[in-house]
Amino acid sequence: MKVLIVGSGGREHVIAWKTAQSKKVSKIYCAPGNAGIGQIATCVDISAMEFDKLADFAQKESIDLTIVGMDDPLVGGIVDVFEKRNLRIFGPRKNAAILEGSKAFSKDLMKKYKIPTAAYEVFHDPHQAMEYLETSQYPIVLKADGLALGKGVLICNTKEEAQKGVKSLMMDKQFGDAGNQIVIEEFMVGREVSVLSFVDGKTIKIMSSAQDHKRALDNDQGLNTGGMGTFSPSPFYTKEVDEFCHKYVYQATVDALAKEGRPFIGIIFFGLMLTKDGIKVLEYNARFGDPEAQVVLPRMKNDLIEVVEACIDGRLSQIDLEFEDNAAVCVVLASEGYPVSYQKGYPIKGLKAFDHSEDTYIFHAGTTVSEGGEIVTNGGRVLGVTAKADTLPKARQKAYEAIQQVDFKGKYNRTDIGRSILEIE
Ligand code: AMP
Ligand code: GLY
Repeated sequence: MKVLIVGSGGREHVIAWKTAQSKKVSKIYCAPGNAGIGQIATCVDISAMEFDKLADFAQKESIDLTIVGMDDPLVGGIVDVFEKRNLRIFGPRKNAAILEGSKAFSKDLMKKYKIPTAAYEVFHDPHQAMEYLETSQYPIVLKADGLALGKGVLICNTKEEAQKGVKSLMMDKQFGDAGNQIVIEEFMVGREVSVLSFVDGKTIKIMSSAQDHKRALDNDQGLNTGGMGTFSPSPFYTKEVDEFCHKYVYQATVDALAKEGRPFIGIIFFGLMLTKDGIKVLEYNARFGDPEAQVVLPRMKNDLIEVVEACIDGRLSQIDLEFEDNAAVCVVLASEGYPVSYQKGYPIKGLKAFDHSEDTYIFHAGTTVSEGGEIVTNGGRVLGVTAKADTLPKARQKAYEAIQQVDFKGKYNRTDIGRSILEIE
């Protein structure tokens, strides 16, 4: 089979790496890809939002299966464009990807189907939002309705901060049309867990749990980012949490979407918060998490392409997902200044030192090949270094040792990824 992967980050690198292990796959393409992906796939210079060009390419090259890694093309309807042309593609159609594309939609869905989530209100009019803030409790959470690279969520400690937030989201349109509507939500406290799942429209099978570290700096300081590091499994995702979510969250979400005439085929990412009042859904995404995928997929025993095909063909119920009985930790190496502004084009040293046989992996996020043929930085998140070991503390130690082998100007990383694991050992 020939497979095309759409996207260019660490998530697409790990998807390509896992796809390369499939017995069914003979050739991998990635659009647009990055320098690391280019070592295992042929990168194609088409952006993820050029749906017709991507479909032309898939037709011309007789691609058997396209896998979409990123949220923007899914929310924009890439799957509908491919399906119209009878091209096989994995991901939700536009009417189901709205689960991630509109926070107002997903909150209303949860309310309608009694899926536990934080209390909220949706606002279209900034003046009404301002009025609501007068009588609210603080802290409070403001969320741009649409996609905003994970940066459209503002946690406001005071009324003044929240007023500024409403102004920047809805009036100054800091995230463009994503701020046409906003969700104002009750602030919750608790530990976060990410759960990824495969869905075939009816059946849902969940993967091993993970935990992300979203803030830029140690001790959860600094701005929200796409994710600075992950570990899997999460020891906080206990049997009780799993049972609760199976009963009230996972199948309930899939059934709700089907009932609304929006059957979901693809990956649903459940962002959960374990609060003292119970488990709540923080958010849904319609794709693999990045960098959650970099710790979950290396632990998955199944052939990814077999599972993906079972989802598309509606026979996921026949698949048993299996994960290794071990642990993985991923530390992201970012460019100084991320997530605000940063330089690109710095040479990366030490990439050759990685030996996958030792269960350490380097997944490229923002890299490219310079004119001189060197691998250089090309984004805010540059690399994700994943290590696997028998236990989380060992995987953590191994990942932190491994990141010392690579270097580039302005490299920065959090030093406390997975530190919470040590507290419970
Ligand atoms: P989201 O994109 O909705 O997951 O929000 C990004 C991050 O903001 C989450 O991972 C949480 O850390 C935080 N967050 C979102 N909603 C809430 C909430 N209601 N209470 C506390 N923190 C939140
Ligand atoms: N790591 C969080 C996300 O992919 O949205």
